[in-house]
Amino acid sequence: MQHVFLIGLSGSGKSTVGSLLAQKLGKPLLDIDMLIEEECGERIPTIFTRYGEDYFRTCESRVLLKATQMAQGAVIATGGGVVVRSENRALMKASGIRVFLHVEPEVALVRLQEQQRMAQVHGNKPEERPLLSGPDPLARLQQLLAIRMPWYEEAELVCRTQGKSAEQVVQEIV
Ligand code: S3P
Repeated sequence: MQHVFLIGLSGSGKSTVGSLLAQKLGKPLLDIDMLIEEECGERIPTIFTRYGEDYFRTCESRVLLKATQMAQGAVIATGGGVVVRSENRALMKASGIRVFLHVEPEVALVRLQEQQRMAQVHGNKPEERPLLSGPDPLARLQQLLAIRMPWYEEAELVCRTQGKSAEQVVQEIV
């Protein structure tokens, strides 16, 4: 069975939808950001600050390739920038179905801020997104979406997530 790759901006719900979808399909879930942190032994913000984005992208490509070879028919939650490299786009196209979780940048930002708030409430370290750490994260999300949209739209399935619960999105994908 082919893999299901979830692609889309930060805050589009890839991890949440991924975990529900994997349960529903009885497939393993592979989270590329988590696998990168495991492989490098460092948190993503540290990888960006110490070694730069190019280094991160190279790790991301290596981990994506390994993930596709790791399990048969997994649900693979990617990082928002996985589509930037053409080898990743070709690999995903060849080894599965790409599902683009579409979200408006305004909504993505609200979700990300809510995640940060919940992490603080629960005493966890909030997840940092190095590409969104500047003074205007909304403008950055809008810019990233504009750049990446042509690649996201190559997906076999485009799923608009706005106003839908994760369960509804999963149902739609299934
Ligand atoms: C990135 C998104 C992040 C993570 C890294 C880079 C991006 O993943 O891979 O910070 O380039 O958009 P999420 O999409 O899970 O936030």
